[in-house]
Amino acid sequence: MRPKVTVIGAGNVGATVAQLTAEKELADVVLVDIIEGLPQGKALDLLEAGPVEGYDCRLTGSNGYDATAGSALVVITAGIARKPGMTRDDLLHTNAKIVGAVTDEVARRSPDAILVVVSNPLDAMTQLAWKRSGFPAHRVLGMAGVLDAARFRTFIAQELNVSVESTFAFVLGGHGDTMVPLPRYSTVAGIPITELLPPDRVEALVKRTRDGGAEIVALLKTGSAYYAPGASVVEMVEAILKDKKKILPCCVHLTGQYGITDLFVGVPVKLGRRGVEEILEIRLTPEEAGALKRSSEGVRELVQKLGLL
Ligand code: APR
Repeated sequence: MRPKVTVIGAGNVGATVAQLTAEKELADVVLVDIIEGLPQGKALDLLEAGPVEGYDCRLTGSNGYDATAGSALVVITAGIARKPGMTRDDLLHTNAKIVGAVTDEVARRSPDAILVVVSNPLDAMTQLAWKRSGFPAHRVLGMAGVLDAARFRTFIAQELNVSVESTFAFVLGGHGDTMVPLPRYSTVAGIPITELLPPDRVEALVKRTRDGGAEIVALLKTGSAYYAPGASVVEMVEAILKDKKKILPCCVHLTGQYGITDLFVGVPVKLGRRGVEEILEIRLTPEEAGALKRSSEGVRELVQKLGLL
């Protein structure tokens, strides 16, 4: 039997997650949205792509939560997306109401699920989902680092004219302007990019990575990115459902690691069937550690605004 993955929010990111999950035959998918007909229509459309793409997953859509019962994994994308000129933090109170209510519904029906949060501002929304669900911290995580690293890898590959497959990158910290790309740990075939590029080019790629979300928002004008975010979520879903023990940067609950306590922030973790199976503490220079600490302070402010600390 295939596991069940519920995706809350059948908008751009949610539908992309459903599509890639089905195409990889990872799970049966339940799509939930408040807009009548939207999750049902997208689920049916994706189901009808099955014969062509060759997948047998069941895809269903609903405006309620009963069909989500017993999910192995729940992806939360519900909320509003950024428009030009908005920061992710501008979404705080609107999305907090939505994510809080959604978490109550899914946690009750799928008490053993792993929650993967995508709604922005990501780190604060993940902390909120953890608090509201009452789940152990290893079963609640946020998607940001995989996406930010994918953007960094794209720019590294373009700059050096190499395959994206030969690139590796780590981006830590909060999912915002203060995120911390780590050039020393970002490589082409194992060689740090700091040995392949002059400092000013490295800095340019770091800056473009930090502004990667805003670059897409400025182009799309009506919303934010969804193909790369969707793909990044599904990499995490696959690592968890297949118990791959993959090392990925994810937003997780820190209890003193990197000198950060009681906050959800992006760091490298091992993902497997139990969720976050290990938090890796890589050695940072004082500058890198300082940048991570500053980034986490920004997250702490948002979490405090929500009254969660
Ligand atoms: N319950 C279920 N679905 C909801 C709720 C709710 N309470 N409130 C809103 N939604 C749905 C909307 O109806 C919409 O279909 O969430 C969906 C969001 O989809 P989009 O507007 O297309 O936004 P998307 O690009 O998918 O981004 C979703 O992820 O990356 C983040 O910043 C982004 O917070 C945003 C989220």
